[in-house]
Amino acid sequence: MFNTSYIEISRKAYRNNIRYLKKIIGKDARFSSVVKGNAYGHGVENIVPLAEEAGVRHFSVFSAREANDVLNVIGKGSQIMIMGLLDDEEIEWAISNDIEFFVFDMDRLGRAIETARMLRKKARIHVEVETGFNRTGFEYDRMPDLVSYLKEQQEHFILEGLCTHYAGAESLSNYLRIKNQITLFRKFNRYFSRHNLHPLFRHTACSAAALTYPSTIMEMVRFGIAQYGFWPSPETHMFRFQKDTKDSNPLRRMISWKSKVMVLKDVEAGNFVGYGSSYLANKKMKIAIIPVGYANGFSRALSNTGRVLIRGRRVPVIGTVTMNTMTVNVTDIPGVQRGDEVVIIGKQNRLSISISSFCEMSEQLNYQLLTRLPADIPRFIVE
Ligand SMILES: Cc1ncc(COP(=O)(O)O)c(C=O)c1O
Repeated sequence: MFNTSYIEISRKAYRNNIRYLKKIIGKDARFSSVVKGNAYGHGVENIVPLAEEAGVRHFSVFSAREANDVLNVIGKGSQIMIMGLLDDEEIEWAISNDIEFFVFDMDRLGRAIETARMLRKKARIHVEVETGFNRTGFEYDRMPDLVSYLKEQQEHFILEGLCTHYAGAESLSNYLRIKNQITLFRKFNRYFSRHNLHPLFRHTACSAAALTYPSTIMEMVRFGIAQYGFWPSPETHMFRFQKDTKDSNPLRRMISWKSKVMVLKDVEAGNFVGYGSSYLANKKMKIAIIPVGYANGFSRALSNTGRVLIRGRRVPVIGTVTMNTMTVNVTDIPGVQRGDEVVIIGKQNRLSISISSFCEMSEQLNYQLLTRLPADIPRFIVE
């Protein structure tokens, strides 16, 4: 009620994905569920309980703000890890709440140690090292300073992790770069071992790395996109397709996005439909107005190209997508009525519109599309 569209999230699909991914990483590796970007658009408040139900106890986010959102819904015994932004004034909050965080420069590390000393509580740190992504992480030449500082301050932290992030493991074109990153990470790891620093969890893999480079799995994997049922890229899917011969697509999409027909209208031949002159009715037509536009996450780029499902049939978007509505051509569908279900993403009878085809139509990455789904569209868990 009071919403123009809604999103359904399938519990069964999520369980299936977690089961499949856990099988790939083996029972000894910890599954960290990456729930940044409002759980890739699925809603933190939906995904965290679902993940816990499926036995996941570790959650990765980008910022302290996101960590706080997870903290509000998390169950007992689950851990949160911040991989990115943590302002100086948030460090005390993080340590007090047992929240783990990446350290990637001496400044943050120093502040974490100082705060831990002041609180008399150990900071739970993950040392991020730079292996070639060139975003955040300690460079190899900083190791002597870093390691001697860590050894001096050992009573003030728990070395939860040693980690890095790959620069595009989903694309074959980055193969050499990823291989070099794996080699360099091993060198960092040896350096730590030689100096008697033993991280509890070494973790480098995101979805694509875990799915295609088994040596990156180590003690923990940070799974984002794949847990939500999406392949990071067609190459990743092809790679697994060759290995997992029993099932051509072991990942299941969890999201369906639905609305309903707001109003129907007859248009005489020779009239333009919607703003401007991008669509001309060349015969008498029946059109349906759907109350979802670009303000609701349905890209304007889908004007005259998008498709939705009504009464089990695929119908084209005609004219320009407006801020709050799109118009579709239902001339050839008998019996369409106000209130009929409209599937924007998902299945209806035997047809379906996948996120990937939707992304192709709107030239977006699935990551982009998901995280841009407005937070105010209500999400419901369905079986
Ligand atoms: C540091 C880090 N780890 C893991 C992930 C998860 O990546 P994916 O969604 O491709 O599994 C991300 C996502 O961007 C990330 O930034």
